[in-house]
Amino acid sequence: MAGSDPDALHAEIIGRWERAATGWGKHADRMRDFGMPVSAWMIENARLQPGHRVLELAAGPGDTGFLAAELVRPGGTLLSTDAADAMLAVARARAAALGIDNVEFKRMELEWIDLETASVDAVLCKWGLMFSVDPEAALREARRVLRPGGRIAAAVWDEPAVNPWATIPTRALVDLGYAEPPDPDAPGMFILSAPGRLQELLESAGFVDVAVEAVPTSRSFAGVEEFVDETREVSSMLGELLDPLSHAQRAEVEAKVGELARPYAAADGSLSLPGSSLVAAADA
Ligand SMILES: C[S@@+](CC[C@H](N)C(=O)[O-])C[C@H]1O[C@@H](n2cnc3c(N)ncnc32)[C@H](O)[C@@H]1O
Repeated sequence: MAGSDPDALHAEIIGRWERAATGWGKHADRMRDFGMPVSAWMIENARLQPGHRVLELAAGPGDTGFLAAELVRPGGTLLSTDAADAMLAVARARAAALGIDNVEFKRMELEWIDLETASVDAVLCKWGLMFSVDPEAALREARRVLRPGGRIAAAVWDEPAVNPWATIPTRALVDLGYAEPPDPDAPGMFILSAPGRLQELLESAGFVDVAVEAVPTSRSFAGVEEFVDETREVSSMLGELLDPLSHAQRAEVEAKVGELARPYAAADGSLSLPGSSLVAAADA
């Protein structure tokens, strides 16, 4: 990670997402299905109405926002945004394939939302805030662009212990000495997972009537090889750690992942790994 310079760190994080976008495009249907219980909770709790203008932040392939785009017809629109151009390209292609025409796309940072004050009715942000170098500033920005009484619905990852699908590949690399243990204080999947943290952040950004819940998720793979390959393709960080390894070292990593994932394996070798996402909704 790029030391303590927040701009350099931000650029490094966005660079990673630019590189991961090809994998997210390739696996977008599977990622959408995996995240659907979370997206559904967010959409329900955003209380969308026909005619609403919805902003999705850190939209990635864009699927949560696309659900909203359907619900705000007639007259409503979606602005789908992400800081990574390559992710926006994936989202544009998906909207075109789905025939969604009430959506615009714009490159936008979570920490600096290029919109007028009180200009949207709802903000959606699924699994994005944890990658911000300043999540509180991001939420203050989200509140600024919401009309008074507008809704935010957001999701971040719950604690590592309840997300083995995410921790097993990293743990295998660390156990084998191919990676350093993740820095718990750096932006990353679990930085907002501590009990009460998301609620506190939303309240300190000025949101009211904050509700936070945990939604179970589940990731399924045909086997260990698919688990490792897909994880490498959607996480450029994992890719950068795995790619320089020799064939034998990669086989060693796969065996370690298999060992750690054994409690979640069926007799045919397929895996069903549990997970938990925190979801939150609040009024601006
Ligand atoms: C884990 S993906 C989630 C994508 C999508 N929301 C979903 O749930 O499938 C994180 C996304 O956040 C974006 N992102 C990370 N940091 C960001 C920032 N500071 N501002 C805007 N987008 C950011 C990345 O480019 C990436 O598309």
